[in-house]
Amino acid sequence: MSEQEPTRVEQVTKLLNLISGYHVTHLLEIARELGIWELITAEPGVTARELAKRLGTEPFYSEVLCRTAFAFDLLARERDGWRMAPHFDEILGTPDSTFYLGRAAQVHMQVGRDYAEMPRRFRDGSIFTFQDHDAAFIEAVAASLKTLPQILTDVVLPKLPKLERRFADGARVLDVGCGAGWALVHLAERFPKTTCVGVDIEPRSIELANDLIRSRGLARRCAARVMGAERLAEDGAYDIATSFLVVHEIPPAVKEDAFRGVARCLVPGGSFVIFDETYPETDAELRTMPTRFAALAQWFELTWGNRVNTRAEVDALCAQAGLRIADETRYSRFAIIVAEKK
Ligand SMILES: C[S@@+](CC[C@H](N)C(=O)[O-])C[C@H]1O[C@@H](n2cnc3c(N)ncnc32)[C@H](O)[C@@H]1O
Repeated sequence: MSEQEPTRVEQVTKLLNLISGYHVTHLLEIARELGIWELITAEPGVTARELAKRLGTEPFYSEVLCRTAFAFDLLARERDGWRMAPHFDEILGTPDSTFYLGRAAQVHMQVGRDYAEMPRRFRDGSIFTFQDHDAAFIEAVAASLKTLPQILTDVVLPKLPKLERRFADGARVLDVGCGAGWALVHLAERFPKTTCVGVDIEPRSIELANDLIRSRGLARRCAARVMGAERLAEDGAYDIATSFLVVHEIPPAVKEDAFRGVARCLVPGGSFVIFDETYPETDAELRTMPTRFAALAQWFELTWGNRVNTRAEVDALCAQAGLRIADETRYSRFAIIVAEKK
């Protein structure tokens, strides 16, 4: 036995720690639904008793929720009450913050519904695609990904000044796999000279996107339509193509065509922004957060037919489409790769 080998008891504890994540995921979502994170963010120091009175919740249940959240470093003590642990006021308690992730737990609870069928799918090799899921799932995903375009404009673009200037100068933007249209409206509002077109193969998402465009009064500059990226046939109609968590969702059988479709749509020198996860290429990346999360995504999206590509595979997809990697950066678990049409 090597000196570093963990003991049996340590391994039991590790397993319990892993299972804790399942329960804390539920706690995160229950507290969001009850308004607990937002109230503690607005009133640091609030006691569980006061919180229960204000939110109409059972006092002992509320006390236990706060103590459990404290046990897992989500809350900190303040006087005889509670405040959010550092940065969780933004991450969990401020829905319009760029860094809000308060709906991530809800998505993973939706994703978790697939596990019931997983043993059967392992045996028969069947798939149940993203688009096969019900409205509750599609809407939960859309709500949770709303901040990705904000992260692009607020955190990533300042590191990519050439691309930022291009948006500001009035780019014609294509958002590939636009989902519920959050990127379309965000980019159009942030950069008033742009026009933004979204395509997606999922019809309910396109309905949501067109509703959102109308509700923001952006119908003159934004549009969304049902279409697979692999069928894009316009020549040089766009300056920038964006994609948020889409490349790993494009069916492997059409992915090369999709990259070629996007490339065809771009003007020479146009940029394809790939905002997605890339699968770890080394054991070190596989065993470390946040790169490990991409491996977890490949696991929980396995039976959707998705393939989380490695960085080398993304390079190859770009090269065969006549795109060359011009720039790249990271944000937590995401790789942001900018490929330019030659
Ligand atoms: C995880 S969702 C992300 C949606 C959106 N970009 C967002 O950030 O909210 C992935 C999207 O890619 C779309 N998609 C998958 N394959 C596609 C294809 N071949 N062409 C266009 N969209 C596709 C899916 O329907 C889904 O809406």
